[in-house]
Amino acid sequence: MGFIIETKDLRKTYNKRHVVDGLALQVPEGAIYGFVGPNGAGKTTTMRMLTTLTRPTSGEAWVNGYAVSKDSRGVRQSIGYMPDQFGVYEDMRVWEYLDFFASCYDIPEAQRKPLVGDLLQLVDLMHRRDDMVDQLSAGLKQRLSLARTLAHDPKILILDEPAAALDPTARIEIRELLVELANMGKTIFFSTHILADVQEICTHIGIIENGKMIAQGSMAEMQAQLQPHSSLVIVTRTAPEREQLKEWLHSIPQVTQVQDLPVTAGRASLKCAFTGDSEAVIALRRKLFTVETFTIIDVIEEKQDIETLFMRVTKGIVS
Ligand SMILES: Nc1ncnc2c1ncn2[C@@H]1O[C@H](COP(=O)(O)OP(=O)(O)OP(=O)(O)O)[C@@H](O)[C@H]1O
Ligand SMILES: [Mg+2]
Repeated sequence: MGFIIETKDLRKTYNKRHVVDGLALQVPEGAIYGFVGPNGAGKTTTMRMLTTLTRPTSGEAWVNGYAVSKDSRGVRQSIGYMPDQFGVYEDMRVWEYLDFFASCYDIPEAQRKPLVGDLLQLVDLMHRRDDMVDQLSAGLKQRLSLARTLAHDPKILILDEPAAALDPTARIEIRELLVELANMGKTIFFSTHILADVQEICTHIGIIENGKMIAQGSMAEMQAQLQPHSSLVIVTRTAPEREQLKEWLHSIPQVTQVQDLPVTAGRASLKCAFTGDSEAVIALRRKLFTVETFTIIDVIEEKQDIETLFMRVTKGIVS
């Protein structure tokens, strides 16, 4: 499969330290790709190489088919980049800010007026078009910054922590905007520390640590790769029934672990690790309900969230 962003053995060295260390990144076209990693992992440095703002020490990156080391013009036309910090723009109104960046992309004046209107509409800032940029709240600045990346209608958006420092409402708004942009056919590659956002909107995820990719793939692949077995909580009525259930479970080869959970009123539950696939889980569930020596109240398959996966594959540093 061709990837719209791809890197091979990408490396950036500062003071003899490999801050990006042989990175292989693969972003399929149309993906919403979450690039996750602890502070200092190399996310911003990777993005700066992808956007041609800094040169790789070695290796190569291709963006929309253009090599960053050979065709920076092609790369720049294909991407919209939102850095992790909003610059200082005193004395500029919201509409002027967008108009200015559109002019940087050589968009003729006659086209800029309707374009700025469209962009303001898209990020829901029309009512603030005449306000000074520096007076906007962090959330609105972030939306304006996103609008700016869209001025030349790029295929790919590279966004460095678009939801950082935003309150929950502003975060959800940015999240919704990213989904809307993906629905418009854009590929979105963004870095984040907010794992809930990844879980909610991403189709793909890459986890970077110490400059190296330690896990990457579609959300479904990642779940499967990092969660080789399922975890089932089985609820019975009484502790003696649970003992019988335990004995029964131990006779099943795919059950690798059984652990008691605290007894609560009318409930005696346990948790077991099961290595069978989803078909086998269904078969096990069916069997459980037909054994006559104990009564099963419920069988719950526990899903692991991205946070758990992240903690398992990194050394546990989440900021
Ligand atoms: N210009 C530079 N000169 C020297 N070291 C640098 C430079 N830029 C980045 N680094 C170092 O490279 C490492 C990776 O930094 P980078 O900003 O890419 O991490 P990050 O994953 O974006 O972190 P964060 O989550 O904090 O934004 C850090 O240790 C940083 O100090
Ligand atoms: Mg960064």
